[in-house]
Amino acid sequence: MNPSRDNDGEFGVPFPGRTVPREQWTKTGFRDPGTPFDWKGIFGREAPRVVDLGCGNGRYLIGSAVARPDRDHVGIDVVQVAIDYGAQRANRRALRNVRFVVGDAVTWMYERFAPDALDEVHIYHPQPYYEPGEAGKRLLTPEFLERTWTVLRPGGLLVLQTDNKSYWKYLLAAVQKFFEPELIRGPWPDAPLGRTRREIQAHHKGLAVWRMQAVRREVPLAVAIPPPDFDANRPQFRRRGGK
Ligand SMILES: C[S@@+](CC[C@H](N)C(=O)[O-])C[C@H]1O[C@@H](n2cnc3c(N)ncnc32)[C@H](O)[C@@H]1O
Repeated sequence: MNPSRDNDGEFGVPFPGRTVPREQWTKTGFRDPGTPFDWKGIFGREAPRVVDLGCGNGRYLIGSAVARPDRDHVGIDVVQVAIDYGAQRANRRALRNVRFVVGDAVTWMYERFAPDALDEVHIYHPQPYYEPGEAGKRLLTPEFLERTWTVLRPGGLLVLQTDNKSYWKYLLAAVQKFFEPELIRGPWPDAPLGRTRREIQAHHKGLAVWRMQAVRREVPLAVAIPPPDFDANRPQFRRRGGK
């Protein structure tokens, strides 16, 4: 990344935070040691914990880490280059309350994070997987939602967002077993142009975006939820200003 272009942002939307001189840069890239994540050892304190699964280039997490220095953040993505971008941007903002790691969300939720360990789990634009036969790759299954319920503390928050209507309909129904969802109508107040790269891209393409924040239920509802085997209907992008 060219540091002089670091604040250029995406689609004309500036990246949150300010870069600082090189001597103040931090090191926010984290290599997975294959053992449970030691929050206190890594951040040197006990603070509320925020996780972004499939964080992409880290736009949301960096914005949150800048705005909420009293919280510790971990961003996870399977794509190395995305994590490198996130970590470089966080380093250049001298952030100390965020780590970026290459990893699989399922492994992290089951093997790195303990029950009752997290305060917030954010998932923005999980991949819908459009091709027939790919439904089994979808992240948000009943089992995964149950594990999210388990690793969140009482009162913990699950934040979900997608521009795929079929995924949204599925999530609206599925999430209710473990969480009480509050639908967010319109853009996020803290990031009206988009919390994430994909959200900004969706606006640019004229796609609707659906958002919820859902509070962990004390006891899950005794209802069955189906697997996410919906037809994801690949969206037809509208051109900006077009019909
Ligand atoms: C559509 S992108 C959204 C990225 C970002 N959240 C945003 O809104 O801009 C989906 C992201 O999820 C990541 N991803 C997909 N499956 C994953 C998994 N099992 N574990 C971690 N990341 C995953 C992809 O690499 C990709 O960066």
